[in-house]
Amino acid sequence: PLEAVRTSMAVLQFALEGACPQSAARAGRITTDHGEIVTPIFMPVGTVGSVKAVTQQQLKQDVGAQIILGNTYHLYLRPGLEVLEKAGGLHRFNGWDRPILTDSGGYQVFSLSGTRKIKEEGVVFQSHIDGSRHLFSPEKVMDIQRSIGGDIIMAFDECPPYPSDHAYANKSMHLTHRWLDRCWEHFHETPDKYGYTQNLFPIVQGSVFPDLRKASCAYVAGKGAVGNAIGGLSVGEPEQEMYDICQLCCEALPVDRPRYLMGVGTPWNILECIALGVDMFDCVLPTRNGRNAMLFTSKGVINIDNKKWEMDFSPIDDGIDCAVSNYYSKAYLRHLIKAKEILGLTIASVHNLAFYLHLVGEARKHILQGDFVSWKREQVELLKTRL
Ligand code: GUN
Repeated sequence: PLEAVRTSMAVLQFALEGACPQSAARAGRITTDHGEIVTPIFMPVGTVGSVKAVTQQQLKQDVGAQIILGNTYHLYLRPGLEVLEKAGGLHRFNGWDRPILTDSGGYQVFSLSGTRKIKEEGVVFQSHIDGSRHLFSPEKVMDIQRSIGGDIIMAFDECPPYPSDHAYANKSMHLTHRWLDRCWEHFHETPDKYGYTQNLFPIVQGSVFPDLRKASCAYVAGKGAVGNAIGGLSVGEPEQEMYDICQLCCEALPVDRPRYLMGVGTPWNILECIALGVDMFDCVLPTRNGRNAMLFTSKGVINIDNKKWEMDFSPIDDGIDCAVSNYYSKAYLRHLIKAKEILGLTIASVHNLAFYLHLVGEARKHILQGDFVSWKREQVELLKTRL
């Protein structure tokens, strides 16, 4: 059963609660009609309306997730809008009564679908499920996200591949800006569908070119949106290049609105980008790599496939507050993963997500305490350790 949606509908609010004196890190609180999110935050990816191998109950009780992601591309193709609308939106369909953010499909269309054609109107693509042809336009993607019912919805963008030359990145960025104008206009012409407020975040693009990123940040900031996203990073560029561009964008985007860095990253990427002023993150790494035997722990990275864990009966991670990570042993999880048992996927995914949520929670604590930078420096080295 879902909690009653608040009767006082309101646009997303962001309150700053603390700032790091030695970096751009900040602690904040986002309020949506489905409840609050404390930042910095990591958002588990629930592509088709489910975080792979993890139940909604586990997301609340064991992971401590405050908001999850859904993907427009996947949900539009399956189960489709008729089902989602009939259900009363994704919250009612999947039973997740906390905030949901949907990505616009401007990324999945490029990474997943086979043949696709980018035009001014939008993108024509073929479904990865049955090969059927579809058009995603900015207006259509706003309508779809209205129907899915996310609390935060994303503008339709083009994420240029890495590397792209300056000319292509420039052309692509301007297309993303024109699409943003169309998203913005259409979004504001259409009503909320399910009795709570939906909020549109624009996305900065511009590849790794500082002049384009500055122009894109200025364009995006000009919309005055309640939150802003940085796209087009973690697509194969060197780590330092990602940090440099992230810093430039954080400095150019409004200080009083949440900044969302899309698709990033490793635990140490997240700490470094929190220091640059990012408030929100999502990434498939904890779930995808977890299913593939890679565990992120408070003592470093574990490949649970390794024979070294065969007789290690110590908890997966006793350094975080998660009943699953504290309860099952490394040896048992190794056995499950080796035997390709479904439970292994669940335990690995729950643990990795709980670790990511623990990490951003600790970051917040140290920002509020005033010792974030020294803590981060120590953590980054520790977390990268291969155990
Ligand atoms: N997820 C990761 N990167 C991106 C991006 O550049 N655009 C969108 N829409 N989603 C993303």
